Amino acid sequence: MRILLVLSIVLAVILGCHAYSATWGRRNSNDYLLSRTTEARNPVKNNYWNLNVNYPNGFYNISAVVVYDNFKNNSGASPSLYSGGPGYRYATVNLRSAVNKGLNSTVEIWGR
Ligand SMILES: *[C@@H]1O[C@H](CO)[C@@H](O)[C@H](O)[C@H]1NC(C)=O
Ligand SMILES: *[C@@H]1O[C@H](CO)[C@@H](O)[C@H](O)[C@H]1NC(C)=O
Ligand SMILES: *[C@@H]1O[C@H](CO)[C@@H](O)[C@H](O)[C@H]1NC(C)=O
Repeated sequence: MRILLVLSIVLAVILGCHAYSATWGRRNSNDYLLSRTTEARNPVKNNYWNLNVNYPNGFYNISAVVVYDNFKNNSGASPSLYSGGPGYRYATVNLRSAVNKGLNSTVEIWGR
């Protein structure tokens, strides 16, 4: 049952809306929010935004990196984890917007 539930959630994420939110790792209930960064940019004609959100080497171990797309209408930036992340003490998340679109994404770093 559990497998089925997980599978259907994965499918729903893949097939469903392309809301560009992402999670790497797993957040535990007693983790601290180490950092929350919101990046917002206006659209640029015939061009896109490509920017990195850096969480420099810290004291705590990162358990999860969560990116929220604040646009919620399929036109937000697509996030990728460039370096670090869960199991490391630093992380770099790249946000790439679509051409002619701005972006408004929030990057959260959790750990303890
Ligand atoms: C981070 O993880 C390493 C390896 O598991 C551990 O030795 C270290 O104590 C952890 N740091 C913190 C702040 O918990
Ligand atoms: C980005 O989204 C957040 C959450 O919806 C909102 O509070 C904020 O005003 C937005 N920023 C810009 C520059 O639109
Ligand atoms: C999506 O929402 C954002 C912020 O509300 C807006 O700037 C943008 O134009 C919208 N995109 C589309 C395709 O509707």
